[in-house]
Amino acid sequence: MTSGWDTMARSRDASMGENGDLWHRSLIDPTLLRVVGPVAGLRVVEVACGNGYLARRFARSGARSVLALDASAPSIRFARARERAAPTGARFTVGKATRVPSPDGSADLVVANMALMDIGDARGAIREVARLLAPGGRFVFSISHPCFDLDERTIWLLERGYDAHGVYGTTVWRKVRGYRREGRTRIPWPSGQGGTVWTEAFHRTLSTYSRYLRSAGLAIARMEEPEPLPEMLEQSPQGAYIAEIPLHLVVEAVGRGPVTRGSRTLEHNPPGVVRRSGSRGRTRGSGSPRRGSRPGL
Ligand SMILES: C[S@@+](CC[C@H](N)C(=O)[O-])C[C@H]1O[C@@H](n2cnc3c(N)ncnc32)[C@H](O)[C@@H]1O
Repeated sequence: MTSGWDTMARSRDASMGENGDLWHRSLIDPTLLRVVGPVAGLRVVEVACGNGYLARRFARSGARSVLALDASAPSIRFARARERAAPTGARFTVGKATRVPSPDGSADLVVANMALMDIGDARGAIREVARLLAPGGRFVFSISHPCFDLDERTIWLLERGYDAHGVYGTTVWRKVRGYRREGRTRIPWPSGQGGTVWTEAFHRTLSTYSRYLRSAGLAIARMEEPEPLPEMLEQSPQGAYIAEIPLHLVVEAVGRGPVTRGSRTLEHNPPGVVRRSGSRGRTRGSGSPRRGSRPGL
C-alpha cells in the first residue's frame, strides 16, 4: 500500500537535500546533533531515515559504518540515488523499524529523527533499538513534542492587548486539549499541487514513551527541547512562537555498559543503575502549514 510518505518522497527529497529543510537545519538537527556528539568510529543505525541526508552526514563525519532504513521504498530510492551520485559509504535499505536487518549488539548509536510519532508500533521499534545496541550504546531520537504538538488538538493562540505593564503587544499561547487521549491520528501535508497528502501519526504521552524505553531496558539520560536558530526566526512565522514554546523533543537513552561517544568511553553504567557524577547512583528498577506545526518534517 502506498503511504503518504511514498507520495511525498520526491518533494521531501528536494526540500531535505543534503542538509535538511529549514525546520531540520535551523531547529531540530542542531540540538539532535549536539546530543549525538562525535560519531567518528561509531557503528550507526538510523531508523526511518527518509531521504537519508542525516545518515550520509554521519558517514561523512567518520562513522565506522552507517546503516539506514525506512519503510518507504521511494524514499530509499532517493537516498540511494544520492549515495550513488556522491558516495559516503552509508548503506540504505527498505524495512520496518521493528525489524532492522542487523545482528544483536551491532550498533553503538541508533538515531530516529522525527519518526517515532509516525510509527504505529513504537514499543516494538524501541525494543528493536535495544536489541541492536551494543553494551554502552545510545539511542538518540527527536519527536514532535508530546505536550505541545499533537495534531489538531494543539494550536497557536495569539492575543493582542496590554500586558500588566501597560505595554501593547502579542501574547503567544499554545492551546492543548486531549493530551491523555492516545492513538492514531492523521496529518495533512500540502501536496505541492494544491492538494493534500495525509500521513498517519500516533500521539503518545511522555509517560508512555518513558515506559516503552524502560521496558526495553533503556534509561533516559538526557532531554532537550530544540530552540530556533536565527535562520528559523527570520524565515518562519512560527519561529518566534517556538522560541517561547517548544514543538519538539530530543531524547538520549542509554543501554547497559560503558557509554560510547565518538571513539571515547565515558562512564560505567552497569545494568539497572544509572550513575550520575556526584551521586551514588540511582536504581532504574522502578508541515503541515495547515496544522501549523510540522511543515517540512
Ligand atoms: C517525518 S518523516 C522523517 C524522515 C527523516 N527521519 C527526516 O527527518 O527527514 C517519518 C518517516 O518515518 C518513516 N516510517 C513510518 N513508519 C515507519 C516504520 N514502521 N518503519 C520505518 N520507517 C517508518 C516514513 O516512511 C517517513 O520517512
